[in-house]
Amino acid sequence: MKIAILGASGYAGGELIRLLVHHSTAKVTCATSRKLAGTPIDQVHPHLKGFCDLKFENPAADDIDADVAFLAVPHTAAMTYAGKLLSRGIKVVDLSADYRLPKEIYEKVYGVTHSDYFQAPYGIPELHRNECINAKFVANPGCFPTGATLAAAPLAKHAHTVIFDSKTGVSGAGDNPSATTHYPNVGDNIGPYKWTTHRHLAEMKQELLWLGSKAKCYFTPHLVPVNRGILTTAHILLNEPIEQKEVEKLYSDFYKGEYFVRYQKPSLAAVRGSNFCDVMVESEGLRVVAISAIDNLVKGASGQAIQNMNLMCGLNEQDGLVGAGLLP
Ligand SMILES: NC(=O)c1ccc[n+]([C@@H]2O[C@H](COP(=O)([O-])OP(=O)(O)OC[C@H]3O[C@@H](n4cnc5c(N)ncnc54)[C@H](OP(=O)(O)O)[C@@H]3O)[C@@H](O)[C@H]2O)c1
Repeated sequence: MKIAILGASGYAGGELIRLLVHHSTAKVTCATSRKLAGTPIDQVHPHLKGFCDLKFENPAADDIDADVAFLAVPHTAAMTYAGKLLSRGIKVVDLSADYRLPKEIYEKVYGVTHSDYFQAPYGIPELHRNECINAKFVANPGCFPTGATLAAAPLAKHAHTVIFDSKTGVSGAGDNPSATTHYPNVGDNIGPYKWTTHRHLAEMKQELLWLGSKAKCYFTPHLVPVNRGILTTAHILLNEPIEQKEVEKLYSDFYKGEYFVRYQKPSLAAVRGSNFCDVMVESEGLRVVAISAIDNLVKGASGQAIQNMNLMCGLNEQDGLVGAGLLP
């Protein structure tokens, strides 16, 4: 299976190449970057030396030859490629935000006009597997909404309020340096940002609604001095109290058979580099604290995108994704 990665010089694109090395049938044959066309991939991603001997290229969408294309490009760029690739029979997984929300909500939240809108399955496979199987296009969810939604999903419809508090590693901001990600501002520090206005809140609300929940939803992210990972604490405020044993059973029933969701004490290190989401819950009656940990670049982006590709192409969902985390 020929794979094109658009935006292959970025963090999510590099992670797609790293993970696909271990896939049984998918082979990366095209890796794009506008600025680095002609440069060997291992000059930008030295960890991939010996695993991928391609050079970056900058083809027009009409010249891309692939069975599946991953759009690991910023929002608003993805919408310029998606329709063109699909019209040529190429399956597409979009890692950007361009197709995750209904058009009018997307335009309001992102403050841009959508030039090529169509509806797409929202690719959290644990919740939307049937929509993703054999799909031609999947909108891969945001990193925060993946961890947050998986933390709260089993209890969502019993809640009247859900408050998500997330800590994220710096690679979530992509490879473009900024004052926020400058080492002295991040190192030995924890910085809250977009306290009430982060754009991923819209996806979280959408998923709670989809789960049959009428809960009010709030979200505050914090930047922490690690490269990878998102730890989300979900405070789930309930209409009726729930006992610890009952809530544990609810979670284990909900995620029964889900290989990538593990019920255990979450920590960033245990999921680093892997496609796992670790979740655990504690009840104090009317409030349940559910905590999840994911790697933002794997379950929060490229790993989940490959999980979706596997479903879209009728392959084993775990293909290319069976590695354990990197502890310590
Ligand atoms: N980082 C994460 O943890 C994470 C998690 C979930 C989802 N995502 C999403 O995944 C996408 C990529 O994120 P990232 O963190 O990998 O970003 P990044 O490190 O900034 O990389 C962006 C990539 O896109 C290319 N690019 C930028 N503008 C482009 C355009 N207009 N047309 C074509 N290519 C363009 C860049 O190369 P050139 O400029 O050389 O073309 C680069 O290869 C984003 O939509 C992001 O929101 C990221």
